[in-house]
Amino acid sequence: MDRSQRKMDHIQHALSTNDLQRNGFDDVRFIPNSLPNIHYGNTLLVTDLGPFRLTSPIFINAMTGGAAATTEINQKLAIIAKERGLAMAVGSQMAALRDPTARESYTIVRKENPHGILFANIGAEATVEQAQAAVEMIEANALQIHLNVMQELLMPEGDRDFSGYLEKIQRIKNKLSVPVLVKEVGFGMSADTIQKLVVDIGIQMIDVGGRGGTNFAKVENLRRSQPLPMFDDWGLSTVESLLEASILANRHLSVMATGGVRHGLDVAKALSLGAEAVGIAGALLRLVKTRTIDECLQAVDAWHHEIRIAMTSLGIANTDRFRGLPLVIMGQTADYARLRGID
Ligand code: FNR
Repeated sequence: MDRSQRKMDHIQHALSTNDLQRNGFDDVRFIPNSLPNIHYGNTLLVTDLGPFRLTSPIFINAMTGGAAATTEINQKLAIIAKERGLAMAVGSQMAALRDPTARESYTIVRKENPHGILFANIGAEATVEQAQAAVEMIEANALQIHLNVMQELLMPEGDRDFSGYLEKIQRIKNKLSVPVLVKEVGFGMSADTIQKLVVDIGIQMIDVGGRGGTNFAKVENLRRSQPLPMFDDWGLSTVESLLEASILANRHLSVMATGGVRHGLDVAKALSLGAEAVGIAGALLRLVKTRTIDECLQAVDAWHHEIRIAMTSLGIANTDRFRGLPLVIMGQTADYARLRGID
């Protein structure tokens, strides 16, 4: 299968499949505050993510690049990132490391947004040299290393050997000129996985990348002549993954959450569950594919407004104050937390 055809398949199928009701956020409720003692105008969206000060807790997560038709998508995303001060990741850069003619679909992002916070993206199979080249290609401020074992296994042409990944990630982390963050692509992460990354090899930023939005098992099954639908429900929801990460809460760790984030209230809940920043991928892809840039900016403004409504009604002026607010967790997510011994 041609790599650039695969990129286009991913975009098309990601737009046609998602699991938005299964992210776990509807199981999470805030305790309201009828006397919040605050003015909406004093709420601030500025957020610290590890070493980065972000204008907004929302970031545009890794999607695409590598095929000519993806240049326009990345350009639009980069303009949105610049106009609204969102950090942004590009999709896996492996294509451009192997074929220099594919570089423009990535470098456009730095060209449009010369001063923004950008994340490069590569798989754990990359060499140190490839990782450094990916960073340099877009003058990235950090590198995302994606973990996507189930997706690879469901891809007929995908990887089959996942041995030595922890050592490979450690090698990259030790040699790279920028911070390394490790992310899932929508199957979630367990406390055990996070512990290995954080405690064993010293990774300090993790994106739990949970189930509930773009579903790469479904996406790959749509591409297969013989689908394996029994894996469509694989993984942990975004909220379950955040609960898993909370087990490591007192470590030196910045948590990010992505996976089925639909609006500002989901962002607020993710921040309350311990995330420092919240990624959106599929919903933004849908917007840039179907709307003008102005309409996309209005959608981001609406998310920001929703976060500030949540902040005002809960009586907090800064996003870091979400952490530690009392929450009620119900339904399947509560069952999960109880069975896992997480309170
Ligand atoms: C992705 N995602 C992704 N992640 C990654 O680390 N490298 C990649 O190349 C891609 N490619 C990609 C393509 C497309 C079309 C989509 C929609 C997504 C995964 C993405 O960053 C995110 O983790 C998941 O999509 C879950 O977030 P949403 O889509 O539910 O908001």
